[in-house]
Amino acid sequence: MDNNNNIYPVFDKMLSRADKEALLGQRGVMIWFTGLSGSGKSTIAIALERELQQRGILCRLLDGDNIRTGINNNLGFSEADRIENIRRIAEVAKLFVDTGIVTLAAFISPLRSMRSMAADIIGADDFVEVFVSTPIEECERRDVKGLYARARRGEIKDFTGISAPFEAPEQPALTLDTSKLSLQQSVATILEMILPKINKEK
Ligand code: ADX
Repeated sequence: MDNNNNIYPVFDKMLSRADKEALLGQRGVMIWFTGLSGSGKSTIAIALERELQQRGILCRLLDGDNIRTGINNNLGFSEADRIENIRRIAEVAKLFVDTGIVTLAAFISPLRSMRSMAADIIGADDFVEVFVSTPIEECERRDVKGLYARARRGEIKDFTGISAPFEAPEQPALTLDTSKLSLQQSVATILEMILPKINKEK
């Protein structure tokens, strides 16, 4: 049976994104962090969310390890599973952006094709790609979760940067190397770029 026959879209009755943005006095935007495990994506996103909240801006942070224990808890790290991971995240993020919310995503999202899929789903005009370019040597030196050591021992397969690829973005809106920048410097640089896009009036 074709279920689509029984679906009646109600979009004409729903309030629009513009209605939500007027309510919040801000514009929805997607800040998409990409980079190796341990590069500092989550740390920057968490600090940025706090800075935005202090300015009265409503945000939603979607983070790798949280999403993977919830909506994506049936996915692993094969290329196909990573594509599905990013596809679902992008669809969820779109709902937040369409509600006028400043949405931050911190996922490795290792391939250009995955990130362009996310930009297509969310809408390229709303999509700000931030490359956390911390070199693998530094990520491995930090090894916050001990995963690089395990990957080097062959205990984790398809580990990004060691046994699975990472493609650097070609034209990110911003590149932040946390081996050179302090957390405060990284956050200040992003804020300068995104505050005009958010256009908070209240
Ligand atoms: S993505 O490639 O699909 O975008 P995602 O950001 O959701 O990855 O998850 C990455 C996190 O999962 C890493 O920070 C690390 O803690 C953990 N992880 C476990 N196995 C792997 C692996 N094989 N490759 C990369 N990260 C892994």
